[in-house]
Amino acid sequence: MEKNVREMIEITEEDYKKFLMKNEFVTIGGVKIKLEKNWNIKTFSPPSDYKLENTTVWSFPDRGSWATHKGNYRGNWSPYIPRNLMLKYSNKGDWVLDQMMGSGTTLVEAKLLERNAIGVDVNYEAVMLARNRLDFYYNPLLPEYKEPIIKTFWGDARKLDKIKNESIDLILTHPPYANIITYSKKKNMIGDLSYLSFNDYLKGMKDVAQESFRVLKPGKICAILIGDTRKFKHYVPIAFRVLQVFLDVGFILQEDIIKLQWNMKATREKWRGRKYDFYLISHEHIFVFRKPIDDKDFRKYKFSVKWWENNVI
Ligand SMILES: C[S@@+](CC[C@H](N)C(=O)[O-])C[C@H]1O[C@@H](n2cnc3c(N)ncnc32)[C@H](O)[C@@H]1O
Repeated sequence: MEKNVREMIEITEEDYKKFLMKNEFVTIGGVKIKLEKNWNIKTFSPPSDYKLENTTVWSFPDRGSWATHKGNYRGNWSPYIPRNLMLKYSNKGDWVLDQMMGSGTTLVEAKLLERNAIGVDVNYEAVMLARNRLDFYYNPLLPEYKEPIIKTFWGDARKLDKIKNESIDLILTHPPYANIITYSKKKNMIGDLSYLSFNDYLKGMKDVAQESFRVLKPGKICAILIGDTRKFKHYVPIAFRVLQVFLDVGFILQEDIIKLQWNMKATREKWRGRKYDFYLISHEHIFVFRKPIDDKDFRKYKFSVKWWENNVI
């Protein structure tokens, strides 16, 4: 692990309120984003005709704009993704972790779905933006409703030092796709995986995978959204390299969900209307990993993929 890894520092409600008194905006990766003082929320849930996903191909052309969700953090994931995964793989009161939370989409869903949550980001201003997105009153007036605990930290996904071993019920996270989109300016880049060379990025992702494995309870799920790119017209399989890293630390692959991509700057807008001799990339992968319950569980999995035995495991 790189020596210069930031320790987790909790960013409390009080820290956020002080920040909000002095700042009207945050600037992340050169993009200025307004901090809302009073959210005008029209609805707390997806459209009533929306049905949860039940196949391995997902597509959300409208992204989702309920509660405080806005598509204005570059590379944020559609709230439909954490919503689907949280409802399938966790229960009310469980602890959900997003250790690269960006604008806090996962945490907003956790608040709405009554899951406790921990959010971490290496970019201090992203943590403040996430807190801003969580700064709304929600009480569905149901007798069984219990307000969840949501904690935010400024920290590094490669070193989750404030999170105990096997204390998390579900990990949902969305790492940078190597350096396709950068999330900070050079001066505060310490630890930002989106600033690294591809090899260093993969080393960093190995630390992320190991930490994910450590903090997750046995038998529980860790899901990541990850995509690929092109360099010099060639396809760079970032997702499959990251998949391998997660398998190498001991995770079992439970699902590979293809997520169709809409409004992707690098593939659709930039090249639209011009002719190229390659296809525009318009999918990403949601890899759903399971931490084995014990060695017996892992061995059972190994037998089910015998053809891997001599190569990977
Ligand atoms: C793809 S964005 C996540 C977007 C998020 N899902 C959302 O909906 O807003 C990736 C995030 O990873 C953060 N990041 C990069 N390197 C990190 C690291 N070492 N530890 C924690 N966060 C990191 C970036 O600051 C960025 O906010």
